[in-house]
Amino acid sequence: MKVTVKVPATSANLGPGFDCLGLALPIYNTITIEETVLPGTGVEINLMSENDVLDEMIFDNVPKDENSIIFKAVQMLYNSIGQEPSELKINVQSQIPITRGLGSSASVVVGGLIAANKLLGSPADTTALLSIATEVEGHPDNVAPAILGGFVLSSQEDDGTITYEKLNWPEEWDITVCIPDFELSTNIARSVLPENVPLADAVYNAKHLAMLIQAVNTKNEKLMKQALHDKLHQPYREKLVPGMKEIMEAFKHEDGIIGCVLSGAGPSILVISYKYDLDKIKSTVRDIWEGQSIKTDIRTLKIEKNGAEIIE
Ligand code: HSE
Repeated sequence: MKVTVKVPATSANLGPGFDCLGLALPIYNTITIEETVLPGTGVEINLMSENDVLDEMIFDNVPKDENSIIFKAVQMLYNSIGQEPSELKINVQSQIPITRGLGSSASVVVGGLIAANKLLGSPADTTALLSIATEVEGHPDNVAPAILGGFVLSSQEDDGTITYEKLNWPEEWDITVCIPDFELSTNIARSVLPENVPLADAVYNAKHLAMLIQAVNTKNEKLMKQALHDKLHQPYREKLVPGMKEIMEAFKHEDGIIGCVLSGAGPSILVISYKYDLDKIKSTVRDIWEGQSIKTDIRTLKIEKNGAEIIE
Protein backbone atom coordinates (compact mmCIF):
# COMPACT_ATOMS: atom_id res chain seq x y z
CA MET A 1 0.00 0.00 0.00
CA LYS A 2 1.13 3.50 -0.83
CA VAL A 3 -0.03 6.92 0.46
CA THR A 4 0.90 10.36 -0.91
CA VAL A 5 0.51 13.57 1.08
CA LYS A 6 0.90 17.17 -0.08
CA VAL A 7 2.12 19.58 2.61
CA PRO A 8 2.45 23.38 2.43
CA ALA A 9 5.50 25.44 3.31
CA THR A 10 5.27 27.52 6.45
CA SER A 11 6.68 30.72 7.86
CA ALA A 12 7.08 30.77 11.62
CA ASN A 13 7.48 33.46 14.27
CA LEU A 14 6.07 36.53 12.44
CA GLY A 15 8.30 38.73 14.58
CA PRO A 16 7.12 38.59 18.20
CA GLY A 17 5.52 35.13 17.95
CA PHE A 18 8.77 33.24 18.48
CA ASP A 19 8.13 29.49 18.55
CA CYS A 20 4.35 29.95 18.63
CA LEU A 21 3.06 31.67 15.47
CA GLY A 22 3.17 30.34 11.93
CA LEU A 23 1.35 30.57 8.62
CA ALA A 24 1.05 28.20 5.67
CA LEU A 25 2.20 29.23 2.19
CA PRO A 26 1.34 27.80 -1.24
CA ILE A 27 4.65 26.04 -1.95
CA TYR A 28 4.45 22.28 -1.44
CA ASN A 29 6.35 19.15 -0.67
CA THR A 30 4.80 15.85 -1.69
CA ILE A 31 5.64 12.86 0.47
CA THR A 32 4.88 9.29 -0.51
CA ILE A 33 5.29 6.32 1.79
CA GLU A 34 5.06 2.80 0.50
CA GLU A 35 5.18 -0.34 2.58
CA THR A 36 7.33 -2.69 0.57
CA VAL A 37 6.70 -6.38 0.76
CA LEU A 38 10.30 -7.52 0.59
CA PRO A 39 11.50 -8.28 4.12
CA GLY A 40 14.95 -7.03 5.07
CA THR A 41 14.94 -4.09 2.64
CA GLY A 42 14.77 -1.61 5.52
CA VAL A 43 14.03 2.03 4.92
CA GLU A 44 14.79 3.72 1.64
CA ILE A 45 14.46 7.49 1.33
CA ASN A 46 14.61 9.40 -1.95
CA LEU A 47 14.64 13.18 -2.08
CA MET A 48 13.94 14.96 -5.35
CA SER A 49 14.07 18.70 -5.72
CA GLU A 50 11.69 20.39 -8.10
CA ASN A 51 13.20 23.64 -7.06
CA ASP A 52 16.72 24.34 -8.21
CA VAL A 53 20.10 22.73 -8.68
CA LEU A 54 21.39 24.17 -5.44
CA ASP A 55 18.97 22.09 -3.40
CA GLU A 56 20.10 18.88 -5.11
CA MET A 57 23.55 19.58 -3.78
CA ILE A 58 22.29 20.36 -0.29
CA PHE A 59 20.25 17.14 -0.33
CA ASP A 60 23.55 15.24 -0.41
CA ASN A 61 24.01 16.22 3.24
CA VAL A 62 20.52 15.22 4.36
CA PRO A 63 20.31 11.78 6.05
CA LYS A 64 18.41 9.29 3.92
CA ASP A 65 18.33 6.38 6.35
CA GLU A 66 17.03 5.65 9.87
CA ASN A 67 18.64 8.92 11.01
CA SER A 68 16.37 11.08 8.90
CA ILE A 69 13.79 13.19 10.72
CA ILE A 70 11.03 11.79 8.55
CA PHE A 71 11.88 8.24 9.60
CA LYS A 72 12.18 9.30 13.26
CA ALA A 73 8.68 10.80 13.13
CA VAL A 74 7.24 7.72 11.43
CA GLN A 75 8.96 5.47 13.95
CA MET A 76 7.50 7.45 16.87
CA LEU A 77 4.03 7.02 15.41
CA TYR A 78 4.48 3.27 14.96
CA ASN A 79 5.92 3.00 18.49
CA SER A 80 2.98 4.95 19.95
CA ILE A 81 0.74 2.02 18.97
CA GLY A 82 3.25 -0.64 19.97
CA GLN A 83 4.60 -1.37 16.46
CA GLU A 84 7.91 -0.95 14.64
CA PRO A 85 8.11 0.31 11.06
CA SER A 86 9.63 -2.36 8.89
CA GLU A 87 10.14 -2.05 5.16
CA LEU A 88 9.36 1.48 3.98
CA LYS A 89 10.07 3.36 0.81
CA ILE A 90 9.77 7.11 1.32
CA ASN A 91 9.82 9.61 -1.54
CA VAL A 92 9.93 13.37 -1.10
CA GLN A 93 9.26 15.65 -4.07
CA SER A 94 10.42 18.97 -2.80
CA GLN A 95 9.37 22.40 -3.98
CA ILE A 96 10.07 24.02 -0.62
CA PRO A 97 13.64 25.31 -0.57
CA ILE A 98 15.55 23.76 2.30
CA THR A 99 17.37 25.62 5.11
CA ARG A 100 15.66 28.88 4.15
CA GLY A 101 13.20 29.28 7.06
CA LEU A 102 10.20 28.00 5.10
CA GLY A 103 9.37 24.90 7.09
CA SER A 104 10.79 22.26 4.76
CA SER A 105 11.72 19.94 7.63
CA ALA A 106 8.31 20.43 9.26
CA SER A 107 6.67 19.58 5.95
CA VAL A 108 8.43 16.23 5.59
CA VAL A 109 7.77 15.34 9.23
CA VAL A 110 4.08 16.17 8.82
CA GLY A 111 3.83 14.44 5.44
CA GLY A 112 5.55 11.34 6.77
CA LEU A 113 3.29 11.19 9.81
CA ILE A 114 0.06 11.67 7.90
CA ALA A 115 1.02 9.06 5.29
CA ALA A 116 2.15 6.55 7.91
CA ASN A 117 -0.98 7.17 9.96
CA LYS A 118 -3.12 6.33 6.95
CA LEU A 119 -1.08 3.17 6.30
CA LEU A 120 -1.71 2.17 9.91
CA GLY A 121 -5.47 2.68 9.65
CA SER A 122 -5.53 6.20 11.14
CA PRO A 123 -4.93 5.42 14.84
CA ALA A 124 -3.73 9.00 15.60
CA ASP A 125 -5.92 12.12 15.52
CA THR A 126 -4.69 15.61 14.56
CA THR A 127 -3.64 16.47 18.12
CA ALA A 128 -1.62 13.27 18.45
CA LEU A 129 0.10 13.88 15.10
CA LEU A 130 0.81 17.48 16.11
CA SER A 131 2.29 16.26 19.34
CA ILE A 132 4.68 13.79 17.65
CA ALA A 133 5.62 16.35 14.97
CA THR A 134 6.40 18.90 17.69
CA GLU A 135 8.49 16.36 19.55
CA VAL A 136 10.60 15.84 16.42
CA GLU A 137 10.81 19.52 15.45
CA GLY A 138 11.24 20.89 18.98
CA HIS A 139 8.54 23.57 18.57
CA PRO A 140 5.03 23.56 17.10
CA ASP A 141 5.05 26.81 15.11
CA ASN A 142 5.81 25.26 11.70
CA VAL A 143 4.13 21.89 12.09
CA ALA A 144 0.81 23.37 13.26
CA PRO A 145 0.13 25.41 10.08
CA ALA A 146 1.62 22.61 7.95
CA ILE A 147 -1.07 20.28 9.35
CA LEU A 148 -3.92 22.76 9.74
CA GLY A 149 -3.26 25.40 7.07
CA GLY A 150 -3.83 29.14 7.59
CA PHE A 151 -2.43 31.24 10.37
CA VAL A 152 -2.00 29.35 13.63
CA LEU A 153 -1.05 30.14 17.21
CA SER A 154 0.33 27.04 18.90
CA SER A 155 1.99 26.14 22.15
CA GLN A 156 3.53 23.08 23.70
CA GLU A 157 2.51 23.10 27.35
CA ASP A 158 4.73 21.89 30.19
CA ASP A 159 2.99 18.50 30.22
CA GLY A 160 3.77 18.11 26.49
CA THR A 161 0.24 18.71 25.22
CA ILE A 162 -0.25 21.05 22.28
CA THR A 163 -2.73 23.89 22.33
CA TYR A 164 -3.55 25.53 19.02
CA GLU A 165 -5.88 28.16 17.69
CA LYS A 166 -6.43 29.22 14.10
CA LEU A 167 -6.41 32.97 13.53
CA ASN A 168 -7.78 34.96 10.60
CA TRP A 169 -5.15 36.47 8.35
CA PRO A 170 -6.63 39.55 6.62
CA GLU A 171 -6.83 38.74 2.88
CA GLU A 172 -5.89 42.32 2.04
CA TRP A 173 -2.46 41.98 3.62
CA ASP A 174 0.07 40.88 1.03
CA ILE A 175 2.87 38.55 1.97
CA THR A 176 6.04 38.85 -0.08
CA VAL A 177 8.46 36.02 0.57
CA CYS A 178 12.06 36.96 -0.13
CA ILE A 179 14.30 33.89 -0.39
CA PRO A 180 18.07 34.38 -0.67
CA ASP A 181 20.36 31.83 -2.27
CA PHE A 182 22.29 31.07 0.91
CA GLU A 183 21.29 28.55 3.56
CA LEU A 184 20.99 28.91 7.31
CA SER A 185 20.26 25.85 9.40
CA THR A 186 17.81 26.18 12.25
CA ASN A 187 20.42 24.64 14.57
CA ILE A 188 22.88 27.41 13.83
CA ALA A 189 20.18 30.08 14.00
CA ARG A 190 19.12 28.78 17.42
CA SER A 191 22.69 28.44 18.67
CA VAL A 192 23.13 32.23 18.64
CA LEU A 193 20.13 32.78 20.93
CA PRO A 194 20.87 33.40 24.61
CA GLU A 195 19.64 30.98 27.25
CA ASN A 196 18.27 33.85 29.34
CA VAL A 197 16.89 37.18 28.21
CA PRO A 198 16.33 40.44 30.10
CA LEU A 199 12.87 40.67 31.69
CA ALA A 200 12.25 43.87 29.73
CA ASP A 201 12.77 42.01 26.43
CA ALA A 202 10.41 39.20 27.45
CA VAL A 203 7.78 41.78 28.40
CA TYR A 204 8.39 43.60 25.10
CA ASN A 205 7.58 40.46 23.11
CA ALA A 206 4.55 39.60 25.26
CA LYS A 207 3.13 43.08 24.61
CA HIS A 208 3.81 42.94 20.89
CA LEU A 209 2.39 39.44 20.48
CA ALA A 210 -0.79 40.58 22.23
CA MET A 211 -0.96 43.56 19.86
CA LEU A 212 -0.44 41.28 16.88
CA ILE A 213 -3.35 39.00 17.80
CA GLN A 214 -5.64 42.00 18.27
CA ALA A 215 -4.37 43.57 15.02
CA VAL A 216 -5.18 40.51 12.89
CA ASN A 217 -8.53 40.05 14.57
CA THR A 218 -9.53 43.65 13.85
CA LYS A 219 -7.60 44.05 10.55
CA ASN A 220 -5.78 47.01 12.05
CA GLU A 221 -2.72 47.76 9.88
CA LYS A 222 -1.50 50.52 12.16
CA LEU A 223 -1.51 48.27 15.21
CA MET A 224 0.08 45.44 13.19
CA LYS A 225 2.88 47.76 12.14
CA GLN A 226 3.58 48.47 15.77
CA ALA A 227 3.20 44.81 16.70
CA LEU A 228 5.70 43.30 14.25
CA HIS A 229 8.74 43.88 16.42
CA ASP A 230 10.75 41.37 18.32
CA LYS A 231 13.55 41.31 20.85
CA LEU A 232 13.87 37.58 21.46
CA HIS A 233 15.37 36.22 18.25
CA GLN A 234 15.77 38.63 15.34
CA PRO A 235 18.38 40.92 16.95
CA TYR A 236 20.61 37.88 17.63
CA ARG A 237 20.13 36.42 14.17
CA GLU A 238 20.82 39.61 12.28
CA LYS A 239 24.52 38.80 12.07
CA LEU A 240 23.73 35.52 10.30
CA VAL A 241 21.63 37.14 7.59
CA PRO A 242 23.55 39.57 5.39
CA GLY A 243 21.31 42.36 4.13
CA MET A 244 18.59 41.78 6.75
CA LYS A 245 19.27 45.02 8.59
CA GLU A 246 19.35 47.06 5.37
CA ILE A 247 16.12 45.48 4.09
CA MET A 248 14.32 46.19 7.36
CA GLU A 249 15.69 49.71 7.43
CA ALA A 250 14.60 50.37 3.82
CA PHE A 251 10.95 49.60 4.61
CA LYS A 252 10.75 51.04 8.11
CA HIS A 253 9.13 54.35 7.29
CA GLU A 254 7.22 53.36 4.15
CA ASP A 255 3.47 53.88 4.31
CA GLY A 256 1.79 50.69 3.18
CA ILE A 257 4.53 48.45 4.49
CA ILE A 258 3.09 46.80 7.58
CA GLY A 259 6.29 45.08 8.55
CA CYS A 260 9.30 43.08 7.68
CA VAL A 261 10.28 39.95 9.64
CA LEU A 262 12.55 36.94 9.44
CA SER A 263 10.73 33.88 8.15
CA GLY A 264 11.20 31.28 10.87
CA ALA A 265 14.85 31.06 11.76
CA GLY A 266 15.75 32.79 8.49
CA PRO A 267 17.39 33.57 6.18
CA SER A 268 14.21 34.28 4.16
CA ILE A 269 12.44 37.52 4.94
CA LEU A 270 8.71 38.24 4.81
CA VAL A 271 7.51 41.68 3.85
CA ILE A 272 3.89 42.28 4.85
CA SER A 273 2.17 45.11 3.06
CA TYR A 274 -1.20 46.70 2.43
CA LYS A 275 -2.03 48.35 -0.90
CA TYR A 276 1.67 48.85 -1.58
CA ASP A 277 3.50 48.51 -4.88
CA LEU A 278 4.65 44.88 -4.83
CA ASP A 279 7.17 45.42 -7.62
CA LYS A 280 8.79 48.10 -5.50
CA ILE A 281 9.15 45.63 -2.62
CA LYS A 282 10.77 43.12 -4.96
CA SER A 283 13.19 45.59 -6.52
CA THR A 284 14.18 47.05 -3.14
CA VAL A 285 15.02 43.62 -1.69
CA ARG A 286 16.67 42.44 -4.90
CA ASP A 287 18.86 45.55 -5.10
CA ILE A 288 20.05 45.17 -1.51
CA TRP A 289 20.80 41.45 -1.76
CA GLU A 290 22.23 41.52 -5.26
CA GLY A 291 24.44 44.39 -4.11
CA GLN A 292 25.95 41.80 -1.76
CA SER A 293 26.19 39.18 -4.54
CA ILE A 294 23.20 37.28 -3.15
CA LYS A 295 20.76 35.88 -5.70
CA THR A 296 17.08 36.02 -4.82
CA ASP A 297 13.77 34.34 -5.43
CA ILE A 298 11.00 36.75 -4.42
CA ARG A 299 7.31 35.86 -4.60
CA THR A 300 4.13 37.50 -3.36
CA LEU A 301 1.93 34.69 -2.11
CA LYS A 302 -1.54 34.25 -0.65
CA ILE A 303 -1.74 32.41 2.64
CA GLU A 304 -2.55 28.70 2.07
CA LYS A 305 -5.79 28.04 3.91
CA ASN A 306 -5.57 24.27 3.64
CA GLY A 307 -3.15 22.16 5.57
CA ALA A 308 -1.61 18.85 4.58
CA GLU A 309 -3.84 16.58 2.53
CA ILE A 310 -3.75 13.02 1.33
CA ILE A 311 -3.81 13.18 -2.46
CA GLU A 312 -3.41 9.51 -3.34
N1 HSE B 1 10.59 29.13 15.82
C1 HSE B 1 11.68 28.47 15.19
C2 HSE B 1 12.93 29.33 15.31
C3 HSE B 1 11.35 28.24 13.76
O1 HSE B 1 12.81 30.52 15.11
O2 HSE B 1 13.99 28.81 15.63
C4 HSE B 1 12.42 27.54 13.00
O3 HSE B 1 12.12 26.24 12.76
